[in-house]
Amino acid sequence: MTNKELAALAVKARESAYAPYSGFFVGAALLGKGGKVYTGVNIENAAFGPTNCAERTAFFRAVAEGERSFEAIAVAGWKDGGAPGFAWPCGVCRQVMMEFCAPDSFRVLVTDGESVKSSLLGEILPYGFGPADLD
Ligand code: THU
Repeated sequence: MTNKELAALAVKARESAYAPYSGFFVGAALLGKGGKVYTGVNIENAAFGPTNCAERTAFFRAVAEGERSFEAIAVAGWKDGGAPGFAWPCGVCRQVMMEFCAPDSFRVLVTDGESVKSSLLGEILPYGFGPADLD
């Protein structure tokens, strides 16, 4: 699967985002090592705090289905009806990635629906704390 293909799946997933409070719709597409893709969306809540980001929805869905190895995630986030832009994952989502992904190989992609920017987890979360630190 190419970066562009994964990004297109994130854009498609974004259509199901539940974001009545912020109006900021986010879709994510997480690629497992076996080639399976798990999508996620942000799911907001009237109490605000329980809101879940699209990236974490994708990870929790994948892990719940037994997947533990990942290659890349694509994220598509912008205001509904606004100009598409590039939304990088929040800090909490980066930490969740750190739990399951190798910082030097896991790719984080962001798309505005036209082009794709690519980075490594270790670049957007330098000196991250992960499972190995507990050894
Ligand atoms: N959001 C995500 O889904 N992913 C991120 O990495 C950043 C923020 C969502 C949470 C909330 O529903 C909305 O975007 C505005 O913060």
